[in-house]
Amino acid sequence: MGLYSTAMETIEAYTGLSPAAFFTIAALMFVTYRIVCSMFVDPEEFNDKKPIDANISSTQPIPIPAPIQEPVQLGDMTEEELRAYNGSDPSKPLLMAIKGQIYDVSPSRMFYGPGGPYALFAGREASRALALMSFDPRDLTADLEGLSESELEVLQDWEYKFMEKYVKVGQIVTEKIAVLQTDDGEANVKKEE
Ligand code: HEM
Ligand SMILES: *[C@@H]1O[C@H](CO)[C@@H](O)[C@H](O)[C@H]1NC(C)=O
Ligand SMILES: *[C@@H]1O[C@H](CO)[C@@H](O)[C@H](O)[C@H]1NC(C)=O
Repeated sequence: MGLYSTAMETIEAYTGLSPAAFFTIAALMFVTYRIVCSMFVDPEEFNDKKPIDANISSTQPIPIPAPIQEPVQLGDMTEEELRAYNGSDPSKPLLMAIKGQIYDVSPSRMFYGPGGPYALFAGREASRALALMSFDPRDLTADLEGLSESELEVLQDWEYKFMEKYVKVGQIVTEKIAVLQTDDGEANVKKEE
């Protein structure tokens, strides 16, 4: 009791405040202190975090995705030969041709692989279908006859997209032209007549 009243008298003498006011102010200061503290990360805690994170990543390495086969240059092939690359043989890459250029579309197996929405294009020269935005199997051909300016433009946009996204691995040749002209890429694109 004596100690309590001594303490109160001391507080009043030093601060000029009533004990009630002193404790209210002290409580407010403590609350403010805690709020301000919570706004900053304790430097030690902050430094500790990195080793913990490093440990997690070293004990649980980031899973490496299923090996993606590197595109291999396959060179010239006929539309007939291209058909073998429709995804039915998992050891073969998925190929697709646009304007006579063959692209390895294996990275987009979900599009072109068996069961994919664009599986019909796999292993095929799809120029006409892409120009017409057609899923008709009869349009799976390099024949661009009768296409309008804007349809050819659509095809051009597809070609740019494929050139950018996929690796070109060869080009389509017709057997006849392949024998007659070896190094003329543009001529090879044309359909045999
Ligand atoms: C209802 C109509 C269609 C819808 C909603 C649709 C939707 C899509 C979507 C969401 C993608 C994925 C794009 C990406 O993630 O890169 C895609 C890709 C593609 N679409 Fe369509 N599509 C439609 C019609 C067509 C048609 C008619 C064709 C051609 C005949 C076509 C050819 C393609 C091709 C070739 C790709 C893959 C491009 C690549 O390899 O990156 N689509 N489509
Ligand atoms: C890191 O992980 C190993 C094995 O999981 C464990 O023994 C070690 O104590 C961890 N180190 C730290 C700093 O957490
Ligand atoms: C893919 O090609 C193989 C033979 O080259 C054929 O047996 C199979 O039916 C084709 N699959 C599709 C979906 O066209």
